[in-house]
Amino acid sequence: MTSLTSVSDDLTFALSNRHFSYVFGVTPEGHLENIYYGGALSDPLNAPLHYRRITRHAATIFEDSPNYSLSDMPQDYPSSGRSDYRYPAVGGVNADGNSVFSLAYVSHRTVLEKPALPDLPSARGGGSESLIVTLEDALQKLRVELIYTIWEDYGVIARSAQFENFGEGDIQLHQAFSTALVFPADAYDIQHFHGTWSREFNEERIAVPQGRFVVESARGTSSAAHSPYVALLQKGASETQGRCYGTTLVYSGNFSIQVETGEFGNIRLLAGINPTNFRWLLKAGTRFSTPEALHGFSDKGLGGLSARWHDFIRDKLSPARFKDRPRPTYINTWEAAYFDVTEEKVLALAEKAAAIGIEMLVLDDGWFEGRKDDQSALGDWRADRVRFPSGIPALAAKVKAKGLKFGIWFEPEMVSPNSQLFKAHPNWILHVPGRKPSLGRNQLTLDLSRTEVQDYLFTALDDILSCGDIDYVKWDMNRNMTEVGSGALPPNQQLETAHRYMLGLYKLLGRLTDKYPEVLFENCASGGNRFDLGMLSFMAQGWVSDMCDPIGRLPIIGGASYLFPMDVLAAYIGPSPNHQNGRISSIRTRFNAGAFCAARGVSLSEAEIDAHAAEIRDYMAFAKETAGDMLGGRFYRLKTTETETLWQYVTADEATVYLAYFHILSAPNLPFRRAYFTGLDPLADYKLEEDGEIYRGDALMQSGLPLPQVSTGQSSSKIRYMPDGDFSSHLFVFRKT
Ligand code: DGJ
Repeated sequence: MTSLTSVSDDLTFALSNRHFSYVFGVTPEGHLENIYYGGALSDPLNAPLHYRRITRHAATIFEDSPNYSLSDMPQDYPSSGRSDYRYPAVGGVNADGNSVFSLAYVSHRTVLEKPALPDLPSARGGGSESLIVTLEDALQKLRVELIYTIWEDYGVIARSAQFENFGEGDIQLHQAFSTALVFPADAYDIQHFHGTWSREFNEERIAVPQGRFVVESARGTSSAAHSPYVALLQKGASETQGRCYGTTLVYSGNFSIQVETGEFGNIRLLAGINPTNFRWLLKAGTRFSTPEALHGFSDKGLGGLSARWHDFIRDKLSPARFKDRPRPTYINTWEAAYFDVTEEKVLALAEKAAAIGIEMLVLDDGWFEGRKDDQSALGDWRADRVRFPSGIPALAAKVKAKGLKFGIWFEPEMVSPNSQLFKAHPNWILHVPGRKPSLGRNQLTLDLSRTEVQDYLFTALDDILSCGDIDYVKWDMNRNMTEVGSGALPPNQQLETAHRYMLGLYKLLGRLTDKYPEVLFENCASGGNRFDLGMLSFMAQGWVSDMCDPIGRLPIIGGASYLFPMDVLAAYIGPSPNHQNGRISSIRTRFNAGAFCAARGVSLSEAEIDAHAAEIRDYMAFAKETAGDMLGGRFYRLKTTETETLWQYVTADEATVYLAYFHILSAPNLPFRRAYFTGLDPLADYKLEEDGEIYRGDALMQSGLPLPQVSTGQSSSKIRYMPDGDFSSHLFVFRKT
């Protein structure tokens, strides 16, 4: 491997591979100056500077350095109080009681083994180099190690900051961002994703404003309200062209990603823990690690950027063990029966599922002691003996005897006020003295910063998983946090609770996934309220939304796909009329919306299965047969308008090409539309499975494939029709010959 990092004698640092170059240097004052981030340069150490030392009117200069103001200088990790008035990456109150920190370069080193972050998940090294630059505030005795990791084969760079107080007095950290980037003044748009329950991942694009644009969460989860992802897009960037820079975090709690235009036009991006309601007491002699931030880059538009993310997430973040394991098709009991689950019903559903070729049964909410609705029992993770007289291990064995795998739902982080656990340990919840805790879905949040709570949960889940017949766990989390305080921390550390909660959660997840490496964990938080790379580094797949209506789910999958590969997504055929938005749709469109998600299945009652048994059997057979295809492939968003969605998926071996077309509202006399494929072998022939017709790759890409029309009573043998009227869809399968 040629070296991915290089350093010049005058302390210019370059991280460079075939996808991008990232260059920064040390100014005579010792500050880190960002020099370049973008497409790969052949001679990155000689990238031209974008900052010029000239007198800026109205700028205060740093100390007595002529023509040098931190307000203007593109800093790779800015602090505040010394001629820079923008939002800092690091800030707080030092032992002298003021908020002036001043970090200067001390040393650097390069390591081949990527340093692990203490107690936090992070991307795996391998084929990588990490450059560690040490900065110090000599007066306040604060040391910061910035870790930059680059991989040979990926368009992603990882950054984090490690703080150490090497003085005698305590330091209160208020801002401790993981990363800072600088973009030279230019026209950029911001792409970000917002939403709520059942409407996750709505894309918004806005021009980078003057002032500061912030997406953040203070809910204790990364949240559906604002996903922890922001991309800066060169003005005019499309799916296929333009420079695109994405930023996300390997973190699942309160985050902040900010984009600030400075008075001289350059743009600062910060990403890390949300400073609102966060303080960290960095006691003398102690260290603190930020979560890891990831920056992805492509100069081939948003499609190019997604490809960079997908490859990286699959190979370096998702649990490696499941990377090449086709996901089983499954039936989930939630929309089939909600809380009305009994052993008898589950076994009948298992029977039905087996008959239509489904491979796994997942017992969702409602199976534990006294859990008949959402009013009680969270925390008491023992089977309800009235409804499940044989207990979970015996039920799992019975389901497996029918030839299915068995999965089960937990919501470990929660407790119902009406539960044995809460009665025994009322102080185990997040709470603050003198205030009545607020309820969300009638439940309270356990204080996972406490080791005794982590231990209790480990034992409770271990008791069930140790039977050996559990193949899958759905890990749910159904409320945002309030009254965030811990009975285990002193008053001056209360604002550490939310972050300590995350550390506790990651520790628990680490223990469970280490002990049960063969169990497939699925991440869920009321659907996508915590759909982030922190959780997905422990869990191979995620339930991105409770929205099971196909038309409602399309923009959610499409939105998530900017960052996440299809490998981590799950989707199932839910009931119609849909329970979230009341829409009536065909089984075909319900399946097709999730056709490229790695995990596919159904959540239907016995009666609903009976009503469509043959069709569902065919779709589940198709899902089983193509399960391997939906890992490792390329997903392309060919077209997204209000009335149409067109997605292409090419398998990792490039042998099969899928095209899913959705026509949302029917209309008469529509234009003849075409799908212009991308990424095919121009000289190869592709055979369309449904009619055996052969198409040349270049023709599919240049001339396009005629798309089916919505049937409106017309019929002609020259046209392919979609029979459903509104909410029609068609799935094409092409094999390379
Ligand atoms: C919210 C999840 O998103 C649903 O799929 C289901 O598991 C319910 N919780 C169960 O309470």
